[in-house]
Amino acid sequence: MLKVVALVSGGGTNLEAILNAIASGEIPDTQMAAVISNNRDAYALERARGRGIPACCVSPKDYPERSLFYQDLIKEIDGFSPDLIVLAGFLVVIPPELVERYAGKIINIHPSLIPSFCGKGYYGLKVHEAALAKGVKVTGATVHFVDEGTDTGPIILQKAVAVEEGDTPEILQRRVMEQAEWKILPEAIRLIAQDRVRLENGRVRIL
Ligand code: GRF
Repeated sequence: MLKVVALVSGGGTNLEAILNAIASGEIPDTQMAAVISNNRDAYALERARGRGIPACCVSPKDYPERSLFYQDLIKEIDGFSPDLIVLAGFLVVIPPELVERYAGKIINIHPSLIPSFCGKGYYGLKVHEAALAKGVKVTGATVHFVDEGTDTGPIILQKAVAVEEGDTPEILQRRVMEQAEWKILPEAIRLIAQDRVRLENGRVRIL
């Protein structure tokens, strides 16, 4: 049984896609052990609670120093002994200590085809604004392992999405979520649950 802890910050549509895939059996032998957010108002927490999944907030605003926030965030996560941590729209930089402790066990969804439009400052709508400003004809989403950088870890899955005439950042974001994010994030978790993902010399091979 793959025990997963999801870290979220917003609406939780990626979380919803994962939970639906677990419930339908599309992702086998997997349990969402907990959902943790930095944002107490994140609707993603409501989605978890509605399914009886432990959901809590560890907010940096509640700590005088970032290191104390990190300490409690790690403690909260450790308490569930996850086999996999999924950053499902988590907008907080995670501490290097967490990356080390769960090396090769943290994955992230990014709403572009990395290495385009990623790294510091590229999150949420900003990613799609940049893609439209550049005039790319194709964008998409990427699931990757998390390393000590920002959106720099080994790529697991990607899915391309067409940019269409008249797209606004909001329209494009929705299409990327519907056609790419909500598909490849559950798929990546399924592959990991089936032990079909290998990390070799910094590159991912799918068995
Ligand atoms: C999505 O745009 C995702 O690509 C990005 O953050 C947003 C999360 O959306 N990582 P949701 O909270 O999963 O609805």
